[in-house]
Amino acid sequence: MLTEADACHMARCIELALQGAGSVSPNPMVGSLIVCDGSVIGEGYHMQCGGPHAEVNAIAAVSDPSLLSRSTLYVNLEPCSHFGRTPPCSDLIIEKMIPRVVVGCRDPNPKVAGRGIMRLRDSGVDVYEGVLEAECLRLNEAFITSHTKGRPFVALKIAETLDGRIATADGASKWITGSEARREVHRLRSTYDAVLAGAATVLLDRAQLTVRDVEGRNPLRVVLDSGLRVPFDAPVFSSDAPTLVFAAGRMQGTTEASAAEKKGIEVVFVREVPGGLDLSQVLRELHRRDVLSLLVESGSRLSAAFVRAGLADKLLMFIAPKLFGADALPSFAPLAVEAPSGAVQLEFGQSKAFGRDILLEAYFQP
Ligand SMILES: NC(=O)c1ccc[n+]([C@@H]2O[C@H](COP(=O)([O-])OP(=O)(O)OC[C@H]3O[C@@H](n4cnc5c(N)ncnc54)[C@H](OP(=O)(O)O)[C@@H]3O)[C@@H](O)[C@H]2O)c1
Repeated sequence: MLTEADACHMARCIELALQGAGSVSPNPMVGSLIVCDGSVIGEGYHMQCGGPHAEVNAIAAVSDPSLLSRSTLYVNLEPCSHFGRTPPCSDLIIEKMIPRVVVGCRDPNPKVAGRGIMRLRDSGVDVYEGVLEAECLRLNEAFITSHTKGRPFVALKIAETLDGRIATADGASKWITGSEARREVHRLRSTYDAVLAGAATVLLDRAQLTVRDVEGRNPLRVVLDSGLRVPFDAPVFSSDAPTLVFAAGRMQGTTEASAAEKKGIEVVFVREVPGGLDLSQVLRELHRRDVLSLLVESGSRLSAAFVRAGLADKLLMFIAPKLFGADALPSFAPLAVEAPSGAVQLEFGQSKAFGRDILLEAYFQP
């Protein structure tokens, strides 16, 4: 039987798991709780890729191990069943004779995918699944997308005016939102594996794409620059973080390409399609490099290109209470929507105020 207390304990697992944001990728964020006679006797989370899993930390935090044999273990993601960098958590739960396990969602990793739960049930453990499942799936949206789609989870981050404009007619966009919203962008960057921008934005905004206003690690910086026109002394190539450039195959062997090589800047050459570089190929390459989550800080064209290619998962729209008017740059270049029934469909997620601005989350519907 599941109770309301089970949902409360799972909510705590999610809270704990979030503490691993920015340091566990390419592993998932996982939190775990051990409860005996209604009291929490142990808590833990996965702190670092390669480090002990959440269940191991929660079990280790229990001061009286004799209580484990009458406790419930809560975990937001199915316990693993394979030997990776650490031994299987399902085996540890069985060994410690924990009789009841409550799981938020299954692990889509083909090495696990239901096997962890099966192993526990085969050993007589009572396993309950699907507690706060939607929240648990959302928590690990990047990990899940990576395993189910073979590409990073893509979030488009846009700062726009109330009338949907991201820059004035001459391309000026600094600043549309206030300092609180901009600080939140820096926090977001620190939780994503990579941040991507197009050459146009990198040149016009002299974008650095680093984490500056908050504590946190810098993500990999990714620049789409078909013709290698961004100078290699631009701020985006500062020594703060690595920068990966994607360019058109036709640029291979050019003087620009050898200048990049001399500077130690890595360039990956990909196919061109109408509108620019082949975004699917870019994402496949990032997936190969263990990039699970990608924050796209795009202008009009790049945002539209990701949407038209069906490669955007989430929209992070910072809206400022300002108007720029119709001569300014719209958030999205043409999307070829011919009738209202053909609109790109999204579903609202959370919204939050940052100073005078609002962050609206929305999920692209398949
Ligand atoms: N308010 C905001 O949130 C925000 C955010 C970012 C930018 N901006 C503003 O947006 C403006 C730039 O927007 P934009 O539309 O000109 O440029 P953009 O969308 O930022 O970037 C487009 C550039 O990306 C490169 N690219 C490579 N592959 C592409 C593909 N498949 N599809 C589309 N682009 C591809 C192209 O450069 P190459 O052809 O050289 O490869 C293209 O010039 C600037 O004024 C900037 O200040 C505002």
